[in-house]
Amino acid sequence: MTAQPAVRSACEADLDRIVQLEEAAFHDPWPREMLAYELAHPHAVLLVASRTEDGPPDAYAAFRHAVGEAELLRVGVDPEARRQGLARALLQEGLERLRRLDVQLCFLEVRVDNQPAIELYESLGFSCTGHRKGYYRDGMDALIFVLGI
Ligand SMILES: CC(C)(COP(=O)(O)OP(=O)(O)OC[C@H]1O[C@@H](n2cnc3c(N)ncnc32)[C@H](O)[C@@H]1OP(=O)(O)O)[C@@H](O)C(=O)NCCC(=O)NCCS
Repeated sequence: MTAQPAVRSACEADLDRIVQLEEAAFHDPWPREMLAYELAHPHAVLLVASRTEDGPPDAYAAFRHAVGEAELLRVGVDPEARRQGLARALLQEGLERLRRLDVQLCFLEVRVDNQPAIELYESLGFSCTGHRKGYYRDGMDALIFVLGI
């Protein structure tokens, strides 16, 4: 039987690992300072997930919230740990925490060519609410998704 992912709040000691995950997951990784800023932000919900209870983080997600709305800023999974439910577990836990913080809507942006992420968001109930042409630095369009929580 596959173990359930273990999800917990990220802490200062996770920063090095989050930097590694960011570099492994994204072509345009956020710099360490930006990740440290999110870790310390009072309106951030930053979570890490591991494949096993005692294992090092294999994935992380960052949300930011303010006055009833939130945005999913980042979700990244170690390429070797994908398709094992880590991103889904992170987002479900993050959304549950946001709900407890009285957040009603969660938005996110995603590249139109990021099919894995789009399928992940749709499987969680997000729906597409906008299309921003040429939004990314390389000219790729963005889709805007929203979920009522
Ligand atoms: C997108 C990403 C976060 C998914 O993480 P993951 O842990 O592999 O996803 P999960 O195992 O939780 O998958 C949940 C669902 O998402 C969808 N999904 C995930 N990866 C998929 C893929 N490669 N192709 C199609 N659907 C996919 C499926 O619906 C999946 O459910 P299923 O496995 O029961 O079919 C991961 O591929 C990643 O880190 N990508 C690079 C960073 C990125 O693009 N982040 C999102 C933009 S900020």
